[in-house]
Amino acid sequence: MIKINNREKSVSIIGLGYVGLPLVQLFLEKNYYVYGIDIDYSKIEKLIQRKSYLSDFTDKDITKLFETGRFMIGTNYDLIKHVNTIIITVPTPLDHENNPNLTALKHSINSSIPYLKKGQLIIIESSTYPGTTEEEIKPVLEKKGFKIGEDLFLVYSPERIDPGQKEYKLQDVPKIIGGITNRCTDKGVKLYETIFNQVVPVSSAKVAEMTKMVENTQRLINISLMNEMLALSDKMNINIWEVIEAASTKPYGFTPYYPGPGIGGHCIPIDPLYLLWKARQSSIDLQLISVSKQVNDNMPMYLINRLIKILPNNKPLNLVKILVIGITYKKNINDVRESPALLFMEKLLSMDVKVDYHDPYVNQITIQDKKLFSIELNKEAINSHDCTVILTDHQNIPYQNIVDYSPMIFDTRNATKGFTNKGNVFLL
Ligand SMILES: NC(=O)c1ccc[n+]([C@@H]2O[C@H](COP(=O)([O-])OP(=O)(O)OC[C@H]3O[C@@H](n4cnc5c(N)ncnc54)[C@H](O)[C@@H]3O)[C@@H](O)[C@H]2O)c1
Repeated sequence: MIKINNREKSVSIIGLGYVGLPLVQLFLEKNYYVYGIDIDYSKIEKLIQRKSYLSDFTDKDITKLFETGRFMIGTNYDLIKHVNTIIITVPTPLDHENNPNLTALKHSINSSIPYLKKGQLIIIESSTYPGTTEEEIKPVLEKKGFKIGEDLFLVYSPERIDPGQKEYKLQDVPKIIGGITNRCTDKGVKLYETIFNQVVPVSSAKVAEMTKMVENTQRLINISLMNEMLALSDKMNINIWEVIEAASTKPYGFTPYYPGPGIGGHCIPIDPLYLLWKARQSSIDLQLISVSKQVNDNMPMYLINRLIKILPNNKPLNLVKILVIGITYKKNINDVRESPALLFMEKLLSMDVKVDYHDPYVNQITIQDKKLFSIELNKEAINSHDCTVILTDHQNIPYQNIVDYSPMIFDTRNATKGFTNKGNVFLL
C-alpha cells in the first residue's frame, strides 16, 4: 500500500466511471493522493492491468495515473480512514417506476460510515433531486453521532462534465458548491479552489442540487421542443436545420438546440424525472417535463415512420437492409446507456428488417438477444445496404464515403452538412 505522506492532500473518490475517473486524474495532476473505490471488480481489474474502459482515456492515460505513485484503488472502503475528503460519484438511475433510485448513493454512505473520522469532508457529486443531501444523507450520518458542520462536513457539488467533448477542460468548468452549513460550504470551497479555476458557492446543498436539475431539464425541454418543431417542419416541407441556423443569427435571446433521434445517456433523460418526482411531493405537476419525456420517448418510432416513407415502397421490409452509423447516445464516447439507437434498432429487427451497424466506439451490442458486431465501413458494405441511417455524428466517420457509396442516407444529425451529395441524403 502507498503511504499517504500528506493527509491534507488526500481524497477518496467513490465510483470510478465517466465522472469519477476524470476527477481522479485532475486530483492527481494537482499532487493529491487519491484512493479510488468501485464495487465493480471488473473495472478495478482493468485498472490494475492498466486498461481503459472509458473512451476519454487511453491505456497510456491509465498507466500515467499510477506512475504518479499517489493512486491506489480497490473495492474496499477501509482506506477512507486515511483521507481528508470523500467524494461520491456513483450512479443515480431510475427504478422500474421511473422514480429516483438512490441505492448506490446510500450504499456508498453506509459503506463509508465505519471508517469515517472527525474532520472529514464528504462531497456528493451524483446528480439528484433538491433535498437529497439534507433529507437522505445528513440524517444517516447524524444517527451515527456525527455533528454536521462541526465534526463532519457535508456538501453537494454537481458534476458538470461533458464526456467526449474536448473544448472545455474539467478544471475550466466552474464548480458549484452548496454545504449543509456555511462551514461545510467553506471547507468545500477551500478544497475545490485548489482544483478548479472557478468555484461558485451557493447558499445551500439544495440550491446546488436544484442548479443541476435546472441545467439538465432545460436541455430536455428545449431539445424536445425542437423535435416537435421538426415534426411540423417536415409536414410543411421546411428544413428545420436551416431554420435553426437562421434563428441563430439573432445575437440575443435565442439559444440553438437541435433535433435528433432522441436524448439518451444517464443525465438529460433521467435527472428531470428526479425533479418531477420531488415536485409531486409539493403537489406541483411539472407538466413540461412530462410532455418532453413523451416527445423524447416517441422519437425512435417517429424515426422508423420517417424511414419507411423514404425507403423504396416496392421492397418488402424483410428484404430491406439498413446500416446504422453510431449507436452511442452522443458523439465521440462509448456510452450506450439510454441510447435511442438501441430502441430504433430493436424496432427495426422486430419488423424483420436486416440491421447492421458501424460504431468506432462500440465493437458489439446485444439487441433482443441478438449479438451484433460493428461492421467495417468499406465501399461494399456501405453500398450493399438500402439505406444508411446516421444516428450519432461521431467525428471520425468517413461521411463523404457514405454520401458517395450509399444508395440512400437518412441523416438524423445533419452530419452530412458540407459534404457533396447526389440528392441521396434525407435529413431528419
Ligand atoms: N456521465 C455523465 O456525463 C455525467 C455528467 C454529470 C453528472 N453525472 C452524474 O454522475 C453520477 C455518476 O455517473 P457516471 O456516468 O460516472 O456513472 P458510471 O456508471 O460511469 O460510474 C459510476 C461508478 O460507480 C460504481 N458504483 C456503483 N455503486 C457503487 C458503490 N456503492 N460503491 C462504489 N462504487 C459504486 C459503478 O460500478 C460505476 O463504475 C450520476 O449521478 C450521473 O447522473 C454524469
